[in-house]
Amino acid sequence: MQIVEHIRDLRSARARLKGRVGAVYTMGALHAGHRSLLDCARAENDAVVATIFVNPTQFGPGEDAESYPRTPDGDLALMEVAGVDLLFAPAPAELYPSGFQTSVSVDEVSQGLEGAQRPGHFRGVATVVAKLFNLTQPDAAYFGQKDAQQVVVLRRMAADLNFPLEVVVCPTVREADGLAMSSRNMFLSAKERRAAAVLYRALRTASDAWEAGEREPGVLREAVRAVLGAEPLVAIEYVAVNYPESLRGVLMPTGGPVLLSLAVQIGRVRLLDNMLLPRALNTREGLTQALGAPLV
Ligand code: PAJ
Repeated sequence: MQIVEHIRDLRSARARLKGRVGAVYTMGALHAGHRSLLDCARAENDAVVATIFVNPTQFGPGEDAESYPRTPDGDLALMEVAGVDLLFAPAPAELYPSGFQTSVSVDEVSQGLEGAQRPGHFRGVATVVAKLFNLTQPDAAYFGQKDAQQVVVLRRMAADLNFPLEVVVCPTVREADGLAMSSRNMFLSAKERRAAAVLYRALRTASDAWEAGEREPGVLREAVRAVLGAEPLVAIEYVAVNYPESLRGVLMPTGGPVLLSLAVQIGRVRLLDNMLLPRALNTREGLTQALGAPLV
């Protein structure tokens, strides 16, 4: 694995990679969720390029890029074992030198859900990923279902700005009790960590209702809220049912697919989760079709 910190070194190393190139972009503090993206990229491409960069522009005023968890030694070991060929791990000034003043803003799909809770977040994500697309020039870029709205925003950006690449979506990797893996889980106390299993239970309850024939978006949302509400440590931010392409809210019963998503606060930790309905679509193929397929 070649590790580079500077753009000029990245460009020359990228030019030497042969064949189909898959890319995985991360903020480090790597876990099995990141690993699954790397494994998928490794299996489907001739070469894998990965990045570690805690992107300051996607953190809001109340959120601190400085206190984002950092596990550099473990990250390098994981990237190496996963078979990454080229790792780009720049310092902030490499991507945002003084005088930087351009941003990418994807309008409609950035507005609801996470965008409503975190103004400016997706502008930061789209800007850095546009830069990383240009710098790493992948044939396919791998993203996690965990951040479903992020994929929808980036897919729209890739289409609108004519990036010649495929967006691939890999299923959320979960702990044994169903909690979606996240770098932020390490901030949960033991008691909060136990309570956090309720997120997946709530999604499962709604997807059981879907499988039994329930199609009313309001009923599905209430099923999620009822399960979450039984856990006193959970404060609900939103529970939503949206069309996966547009992220517009689903108002009428529909045959699907729909994206069921939620955000909660447990103590001081914000947690997200989501599921496509019908449940059988939560695979690499189903997710990529629903959230990542090329737009015309
Ligand atoms: P980060 O949170 O490090 O996540 C990197 C990638 O790993 C994202 O595509 C995310 O969806 C995926 N991922 C995280 N947890 C996962 C899980 N439990 N299962 C499957 N995939 C998971 O997302 C970002 O970084 C940043 O916004 C980034 C795209 C790097 C831009 O700065």
